Amino acid sequence: ITGDAEAGERVYRKCQACHMVGEDAQNRVGPQQNGIIGREIAALEDFNYSDALVEKGEAGEVWTPENLNAFLENPREWAPGTKMSFAGLRKEEERADVIAYLAQYNAD
Ligand code: HEM
Repeated sequence: ITGDAEAGERVYRKCQACHMVGEDAQNRVGPQQNGIIGREIAALEDFNYSDALVEKGEAGEVWTPENLNAFLENPREWAPGTKMSFAGLRKEEERADVIAYLAQYNAD
């Protein structure tokens, strides 16, 4: 999955209603997203996830780009019972771009 991080910054505005990423990012309606790529699903101790995501994490599933792509296309279909009230990103390009944007916050 190859996207454009700069374009992804614009796509990420849709996520900012609920999420923060970057320096001083905190959990809001949704969990903060520093280091999300490659992290176990539902891994933050201080966020109250749905059972849907907790079960995936307990099964050892990780936020690979492929899993992020599938979740973001249709959150409720990929994770039935998720608390993420977001219709999803129907455009493949937007998903790739936002994943590239998030990957910038995996450095440290
Ligand atoms: C969870 C990404 C939009 C609310 C998550 C997770 C990711 C994610 C990767 C899982 C985090 C983890 O396992 O630690 C995104 C992206 C968005 C977006 C990239 C924009 C394209 C939104 C919006 C809302 C929201 C708009 C609120 C209306 C939540 C909530 C969770 C969550 C509540 C926890 C879900 C659960 O426990 O089932 N999001 N999100 N997200 N997000 Fe989003």
